[in-house]
Amino acid sequence: MAKNDPKNVLEINNLSFRVNSHRILEGITLEMERGEFAGLIGPNGAGKTTLVRAIIGELEEHEGTVRVNGRIGYLPQYSEFSRDFPITVREVAAMGIYRRKGFLRKLTADDHEKINALMKQVGICELSERRVGTLSGGEYQRLMLVRALAAEPDLLILDEPEAGIDEMGKASFYRLVNDLKKSRNMTILLISHDIGMVFDACDRIICLNKTLHCHKEVRSVSAEDLKKIFSTDFDFLIRSKDHFEREHSQ
Ligand SMILES: Nc1ncnc2c1ncn2[C@@H]1O[C@H](COP(=O)(O)OP(=O)(O)O)[C@@H](O)[C@H]1O
Ligand SMILES: [Mg+2]
Repeated sequence: MAKNDPKNVLEINNLSFRVNSHRILEGITLEMERGEFAGLIGPNGAGKTTLVRAIIGELEEHEGTVRVNGRIGYLPQYSEFSRDFPITVREVAAMGIYRRKGFLRKLTADDHEKINALMKQVGICELSERRVGTLSGGEYQRLMLVRALAAEPDLLILDEPEAGIDEMGKASFYRLVNDLKKSRNMTILLISHDIGMVFDACDRIICLNKTLHCHKEVRSVSAEDLKKIFSTDFDFLIRSKDHFEREHSQ
């Protein structure tokens, strides 16, 4: 059973998920402390998004328990509404507030103030009356971040947020997430294919490939750890080796 330790925001105990007899996740036990910034890495099909679905309570029948102590803010891997939808940036941002208060509540002046402050903080304030369809990839992801933050989450989950952002945009997006982490005592779970970026940004690394291989401080993750989960994905291995060489030659 989950421990119900107040210092933990997330407690997953022996989570397994199978489709027919196909194992997707197997025996995952994981805890995240309040204020932790963890990067979740693993090859395509490792079960990262499935694990997120379990955390947000949207996974079909599974074994084991998931306990979240607080509110979740979630930036999905693929956005769930069409960007052609005729809706403004401000209206999308406000969805995060509705998520917290329920859809029947009217937004207060205070809510609008909060949204303005968030849009300012991520640098999309001047876009507030634009249609979402006119935003660049980076601007759109910042908006998705505002929407997730408007829920005032204890646990912020970002599932491959860099999709559709160019290299420059990526760097500034991660800088932004880091600033947010410092200014609020949020727990962040960041899923990304960009191992170098994850190692730079996060405090801890969670290595997943159907089972959980490790969950530890960035500095104690070894090339062996990465090899274990990326054994068939050579490109990642080479990039992560480069990363280690850079790290250890300093
Ligand atoms: N509901 C489901 N039914 C069948 N297969 C699924 C289901 N959910 C996930 N999978 C499969 O589980 C594997 C892990 O998927 P996913 O969690 O999206 O991986 P990742 O996010 O790490 O790339 C994939 O092979 C995917 O096709
Ligand atoms: Mg995924």
